[in-house]
Amino acid sequence: MGVFASTDDPGSTGHEQVVFCQDKQSGLKAIIGIYSTALGPALGGTRFYPYASEDDALADVLDLSRGMAYKNALAGLDLGGGKAVIWGDPEQIKSEALLRAYGRFVESLAGRYYTACDVGTYVADMDVIARETRYVTGRSVEHGGAGDSSILTAWGVFQGMRAAAEHVWGSPSLAGKRVGVAGLGKVGKYLTGHLLDDGAEVVATDVNPKALEWVRATHPQVALVDDAAALVASDIDVYAPCALGGALDDDTVPALRAKVVAGAANNQLAHPGIEKLLADRGILYAPDYVVNAGGVIQVADEIEGFNFDRAKLRATRIYDTTREILGLADDEGVPPAVAADRLAERRMAEVGRLRTIHLR
Ligand SMILES: NC(=O)c1ccc[n+]([C@@H]2O[C@H](COP(=O)([O-])OP(=O)(O)OC[C@H]3O[C@@H](n4cnc5c(N)ncnc54)[C@H](O)[C@@H]3O)[C@@H](O)[C@H]2O)c1
Repeated sequence: MGVFASTDDPGSTGHEQVVFCQDKQSGLKAIIGIYSTALGPALGGTRFYPYASEDDALADVLDLSRGMAYKNALAGLDLGGGKAVIWGDPEQIKSEALLRAYGRFVESLAGRYYTACDVGTYVADMDVIARETRYVTGRSVEHGGAGDSSILTAWGVFQGMRAAAEHVWGSPSLAGKRVGVAGLGKVGKYLTGHLLDDGAEVVATDVNPKALEWVRATHPQVALVDDAAALVASDIDVYAPCALGGALDDDTVPALRAKVVAGAANNQLAHPGIEKLLADRGILYAPDYVVNAGGVIQVADEIEGFNFDRAKLRATRIYDTTREILGLADDEGVPPAVAADRLAERRMAEVGRLRTIHLR
């Protein structure tokens, strides 16, 4: 995969900057990918993961940083898209020295990239990284941070689901609808609460017995099924993938009985073309990166000095953005995932262009 975009190389990615960082003593090997700063500094989390190879780490950071540019654009943030990966097993090599070495590389970008938590990194790690750089969000509440981002992620998913419900059934209310939640983790738990409050019936599954115990104790009215395949095949109106990526694939989509898909998981479409398969089956897919932006909205708010109410208001607007995308998809005769990409690209081009107006 080439990083430099060129007309001769259709596989090239068009990233602005990709930085390889190494500190041999602490074992740090990191790659920071900045896809676009058209709307502002690039924001995206740091994934700490034992990739099989450097190529895998690079492919992931290129993919994830591009995704963040689109997500941040549609979240209405004045932030571009970036992401970082630390290559290695966090259980084995994570240390104060490694995180601080990483923080110094983030600082060296002088604010072109803000980091945050992702798979394998936590709020406490951000506090360590912050000892070396100002450009870090997702910090602990004691340090003025936003804390657990899954609270507004779940709220935003609920808002996106309401917009999708309105598009299909004429009312945003989920009352009386049967919603299948796959994954009762940090986001799935809060989402289940919002759905029950709205009068929905919830049927759920999780591979972790603790999550099942939690739901039995907290919401005994939630029906449980064995696995995601059983959930997909059950009589649900809405499917909310809230576990891992790739939930919508060539086996799942033909079996799906829901009319709406709206969930928190990143990268739900297993491969390009699945969005068309969903549309052909008359299933409305609310694009994952649109509806799950509440978390990035929450951590981005920290840059201004965290205010929960303001961040929640911004996450509530995911309802309006989802409506706009679904309307655009109908008008342009394309699946919602394509309409979302177009809207994000439009904002990056239209607002990004304003920087060409000379100020001084
Ligand atoms: N937390 C956030 O703020 C945030 C923001 C944006 C996107 N997301 C995405 O949302 C998804 C959920 O995030 P989270 O923070 O709740 O993660 P989490 O790890 O807390 O929860 C995931 C849950 O899914 C369950 N699970 C895993 N595999 C499963 C399977 N095959 N079938 C059923 N359940 C399964 C796990 O046991 C766990 O309870 C992830 O894809 C994440 O990338 C999260």
